[in-house]
Amino acid sequence: MNNCRCCQKRIEGKSLYHPECLRKLFGTTTLPLVPFGVNDLSKLIATYQGRMSISGIQIKASVKLDTGLKQLEVVAVGGTHILKPDPQRLPELPINENLCMSMAETVGLPVPPHGLFSMTDSSMCYVIKRFDRMENGDKLQEETLFQLLDFRQKYEGSLEKVGKTLQKYTTQVGLQLIDFFERVLFCFLIGNGDMHLKNWAVLRQNGEVVLAPCFDLVSSKIYLDNEDETALSLNGKFNKLRRSDFEAFGSYLKLAPKTISNIFQKYEVSQNQLLEMCSKSELNADLKEKLKEVIANRYQQIFL
Ligand SMILES: Nc1ncnc2c1ncn2[C@@H]1O[C@H](COP(=O)(O)OP(=O)(O)OP(=O)(O)O)[C@@H](O)[C@H]1O
Ligand SMILES: [Mg+2]
Repeated sequence: MNNCRCCQKRIEGKSLYHPECLRKLFGTTTLPLVPFGVNDLSKLIATYQGRMSISGIQIKASVKLDTGLKQLEVVAVGGTHILKPDPQRLPELPINENLCMSMAETVGLPVPPHGLFSMTDSSMCYVIKRFDRMENGDKLQEETLFQLLDFRQKYEGSLEKVGKTLQKYTTQVGLQLIDFFERVLFCFLIGNGDMHLKNWAVLRQNGEVVLAPCFDLVSSKIYLDNEDETALSLNGKFNKLRRSDFEAFGSYLKLAPKTISNIFQKYEVSQNQLLEMCSKSELNADLKEKLKEVIANRYQQIFL
């Protein structure tokens, strides 16, 4: 029995992907080939230097499915997916990211289709469908909070500042702020200490402005023992966060006390499910144990 390399849920038989998960990701149930390895990818990206419009620190490529050849190709324009290979410096990051995104999906957060795929050098890469592209190729405008706030660097500001900015720019503000609060709590619970201003974004579509779906959710804590609990301060703190800090944060966002307690309750009961997903993931034994420990500790910090 395996777990699906997209949703991380159980899959019958020997297959590694649910056909439906592949269809959601690529529009077809055929497993596409990734016809390059990490080193080839760096060279391919270099040839497109300056023309590929995705920012970020890790190497990544804009790709699309060549439906004739049934393989992914790196493209400068018209990319429909983002591919992130294993940076090695942070081992098994693609597995980590796919797992964290699947955990987010499990607790009900908005997550684009994504999955793990084997490259020709047998390393693993992570692929996510772009949420700023329509099926007909049209682009939606995506703006990170870094752009909206016009700060000098991405670790400036606080989560309250992000919340205020979402309040100012988004439509259906109440719903956006509940989503934002939940994601902040989720990131704390999985040890994601790198949610800087470029990891929060809004999408504009038909006059609506909404928090963009989740992206770049990883447990950074499993690589960095001394990492702060949060990249942007919450209730004036970077560490030793308690439930009361999240409650203060929620009330700053003007969430009703009942809404906040419902969210806590929902997350409280999902601990075992998250731990089980870690156990069944393809992370190596060492990273798996670290992640389970991080999650168990964070849950204790909030719920005990
Ligand atoms: N699925 C997606 N659809 C559209 N845009 C995306 C998607 N995922 C990421 N992006 C955009 O691409 C940028 C870089 O992506 P991401 O944050 O995953 O990369 P990274 O290199 O891991 O980032 P970091 O610099 O935080 O390490 C993001 O800031 C976001 O604006
Ligand atoms: Mg990022």
